[in-house]
Amino acid sequence: MKNVISCDQFTKEDLKEIFDLADVVRANPEKYMNALNGKVVTTLFFEPSTRTRLSFETAVVRLGGRLVSTENGKTNSSSTKGETLEDTIRVVTGYTDAIVMRHSFNDAAERAAKIATVPVINAGSGKGEHPTQSLLDAYTIRREKGRLDNLKIAILGDLINGRTIHSLIKLFGRYENIEFYALSKENLALPEKYVKIIEETGNKYFKCNSFEDIPKDVDVMYHTRIQAERCDEDLGKEEFIINKKVLNQFSEDTIVLHPLPRVDEIATDIDNDKRAMFFKQAHNGMWVRMALLLKVFEEEK
Ligand code: CP
Repeated sequence: MKNVISCDQFTKEDLKEIFDLADVVRANPEKYMNALNGKVVTTLFFEPSTRTRLSFETAVVRLGGRLVSTENGKTNSSSTKGETLEDTIRVVTGYTDAIVMRHSFNDAAERAAKIATVPVINAGSGKGEHPTQSLLDAYTIRREKGRLDNLKIAILGDLINGRTIHSLIKLFGRYENIEFYALSKENLALPEKYVKIIEETGNKYFKCNSFEDIPKDVDVMYHTRIQAERCDEDLGKEEFIINKKVLNQFSEDTIVLHPLPRVDEIATDIDNDKRAMFFKQAHNGMWVRMALLLKVFEEEK
C-alpha cells in the first residue's frame, strides 16, 4: 500500500490487517513509539478539519515521527498566489517522507499521487472520497458489532455530497450481505452511481421515506451533515433528526455513528445513550491512522 487514495483499493484481507494492527497498537502503544523514528510526515489541509488532521498528527507523534503541517492551505500556502496543486506537490515531495492531504478537488489525491515520489494519503477529497474515515467507521463497527458481514446499515443526511458515505459504500462492497437503507431529503438522495456500486458488489439498497421504513433491528444508523459549503444553492435544513424519541424506536443494539462534525442532525439528548458511538468513533480514528501509517511505511522499506 504505497498510496491511500480510495476505498476501491482495499481488499478484505488489507482491511483485516489494518483493523487487527489497530487493535494491537492500542493494546501496546509503547511498542510502537519509535516506529516512525526519523520520518517526516507533511499534513497539507486545504479545507478545515478537526478530527482527521489532529488524529493523523497525533498518530505520527505517537509513532515517533515528526510533522510539518499546513493547517489552512487555502489561505496560507502559495495556492493563493496561483500555484497549481501539481507544483505544490512537486515541491513538498522533496521535503517529506509522506503527504496526508485534504483538498476540495474530487480528484486531488489521484493528481497528487501521480506527481509525488512519497506516499500520498487522501484525508478527504471534495465530494469524492474520505477513505481513512471509512476505515475508522468500519473498525468501530467491527469493535461494536463483532462483524463486518451480514449488517443492516442505515445511511442518512447528505448522501449526494457526503464523501464519507461514498467511501463507506465502496468499503462495504468488500463484505457480504450488507443491506443499505437510505434516508435523506429528496435533493440529497444517493446518486445512481453509488446505488449501482451497492448492487454490483452484491449488497442491497433500499430507499426510505421516513424512519418507519428503516428496520427496527438495523445494526448501524450512520448520519451525516448537510455539506452546505460544497454547493452554491441552498440545500435547506435536515428533516431527519435522530433524537431520543427516534432512537427509542430502534433496537437496544442499534449503534449510531456520525463522522462529525454534527450540526443538528443528531440531537444532544442521545449523547449519553450507550448506542451513541460517534465520539468513540472519532477516538478510534487515531488508532486506525496509526495502523495505516505503519502499513504505508512498512511498504516503503
Ligand atoms: N470526520 C471528519 O473528517 O472530521 P474533520 O472534518 O474534523 O476532519
